[in-house]
Amino acid sequence: MTSAPATQPRFLTLEGGEGAGKSTVLAALRDALLADGEDVVCTREPGGTPLAERIRELLLAQSNEVMDPHTELLLVFAARAQHVAQVIRPALARGAWVVCDRFTDSSFAYQGAARGLDMAFIAELERGAVGIVPGLTLLLDLDVASARERTRGRDLLGDAVPDRIESERDAFFERVREGFRLRAASDPRRIRTIDAGLSAGLVASEAVAILSQYREGLA
Ligand code: TMP
Repeated sequence: MTSAPATQPRFLTLEGGEGAGKSTVLAALRDALLADGEDVVCTREPGGTPLAERIRELLLAQSNEVMDPHTELLLVFAARAQHVAQVIRPALARGAWVVCDRFTDSSFAYQGAARGLDMAFIAELERGAVGIVPGLTLLLDLDVASARERTRGRDLLGDAVPDRIESERDAFFERVREGFRLRAASDPRRIRTIDAGLSAGLVASEAVAILSQYREGLA
């Protein structure tokens, strides 16, 4: 049995459903850290390395073959293992901050809460194949109807077709949301929830305020 995953104080993650505004918050956190002269690496999951981005394409592509939930889970963790080894651990080791759009909490919410896979098995993959936990996670919480509205607007603007996971029904995203909220409730020190229904500017400034308070706590 491998040991419990180690918390990394300079590792920050953003979580939430689609359309919650993670990109804006990521940019605001990066700018706040850069303004203080910090070394910052911004990245995303699934993805973040060439191989992990190829796995992302497999995960999100529409296909006539239904993807088994365990295939989905193992692909997500295959991408994560590569990303952690190639990008996240080296950056943390040199003292950089890493700001990551999604991480293992997404697997607990999407593959665990929404697909119904065994949470203990996901935790075992986390321990065995990932080994790290963020010091701070910001959960951008948004109701499913508002999230749909936002992603629809984005897809219309970019003429984009919804990907395989975006094409799930509302009930799936309700379970994702509940999964995130339960995780936040069980680990309120690490996972801080922000009401993503507020304006993008307010959400970003709240995120920056939480980061600054968190950094004071580390000092
Ligand atoms: P994105 O829309 O934030 O770029 O994320 C890509 C999709 O991948 C999104 O639908 C959530 C999903 N996902 C999982 O299902 N499990 C995971 O562990 C991660 C990181 C993402």
